[in-house]
Amino acid sequence: MCASTTKMWFLRILFAFILVVRVKGVVKNSQDCNIPAIYNFGDSNSDTGGSSAAFSPAGPPTGETYFGIPTGRASDGRLIIDFIAESLGLPFLSAYLNSIKANFEYGANFATGGATIRRLNESWFQHGVSPFSLDVQVEQFDQFKTRTTYFYTQDKSNLPNPDDFSKALYIIDIGQNDLGACFRSLTNPQCIATFPDIIQDFATAVQKLYDKGARAFWIHNTGPFGCLPISTTNHPNPEPGYFDEIGCRKDQNDVAIEFNKQLKDKIIQLRTELSDAALTHVDMYAAKHQLISNAKNQGFEDALSYCCGYHKNGVDIWCGNTGTVNGTVVSADSCPDPSKVISWDAVHYTDAANYWIANHIIDGSFSDPPVSISQACSKSINM
Ligand SMILES: *[C@@H]1O[C@H](CO)[C@@H](O)[C@H](O)[C@H]1NC(C)=O
Ligand SMILES: *[C@@H]1O[C@H](CO)[C@@H](O)[C@H](O)[C@H]1NC(C)=O
Repeated sequence: MCASTTKMWFLRILFAFILVVRVKGVVKNSQDCNIPAIYNFGDSNSDTGGSSAAFSPAGPPTGETYFGIPTGRASDGRLIIDFIAESLGLPFLSAYLNSIKANFEYGANFATGGATIRRLNESWFQHGVSPFSLDVQVEQFDQFKTRTTYFYTQDKSNLPNPDDFSKALYIIDIGQNDLGACFRSLTNPQCIATFPDIIQDFATAVQKLYDKGARAFWIHNTGPFGCLPISTTNHPNPEPGYFDEIGCRKDQNDVAIEFNKQLKDKIIQLRTELSDAALTHVDMYAAKHQLISNAKNQGFEDALSYCCGYHKNGVDIWCGNTGTVNGTVVSADSCPDPSKVISWDAVHYTDAANYWIANHIIDGSFSDPPVSISQACSKSINM
């Protein structure tokens, strides 16, 4: 009897100990959402193969650092969305448009390179704008949800559990091509005048996803457009003040900042309208700007260099292509060490830069409210 009492006490103490450890763990992760799936919407910054599946695929040297083959990602390796998926314990997202080896068990990616928030007409397609604008991506999601829910009852393989749509994280990273199209066709003040309509289209997309059951949103604002090497090259004699202290184009960054301000105001408004939604705003501009301004201390070489492509004296030969410059054939190959360069192809970021950015945003350092991505469902913190 004595022995059994001792044993009971031992077990009680052990149990209490386990409970304390567990409670401690629970407190630390009190808002952990156990996100079962990701639905992603956006442009080439998060396209994991959609554009390549729909149109002419991106060739080598894209993918060389991590995948070893082109995967349709505009990078030498992984994108921020890949690191996000990894941090949530989920596999890389399959592109909705990709019919080869796609697995939608843990979500789907509707992003396509060149996508805009605003639907632009076909005269823009020759400039790389995607016909899969944000409103189309939301339609595709609607069809995805309806059809997978139907087929799940027959065969679950590679399909998401319909119960997971309301628990999934809905990530949006789009706007860069709306700015690009603006800069190509309008003056900066004219551009800014179009923003209220563009931001309204964005809000409509969020509202539609909410109506389809989306609850947790993780929204990236747009990066410092004027720091893309394609924006900073080909300006041999800039007037004073044209570039900021890092060498980024100040006018384009100012337009991006105005866009982001209007986006953030709209997200704050949406929080009151979509009462059951958790809307986390992520200041991607600040994260990317922090990396570019501290390139050297963060292990990168020149802040505004790029790894692959030739962009000089008004000649643009894009990464992986070959062209002729003054009678000489130039192959736009990749640099010897992409891990030391922030920009992959003068527009998109390298695997190493994406890793840095993802690591800095995942923990909530750039989020409003300041929640980490694993807690981005927390409505309570959101209010
Ligand atoms: C397409 O849109 C642009 C403005 O973005 C406009 O100037 C042009 O006329 C439109 N083209 C067609 C074919 O509708
Ligand atoms: C071609 O060569 C001329 C003369 O050296 C030079 O001025 C010009 O910038 C070169 N063009 C390109 C695209 O490099």
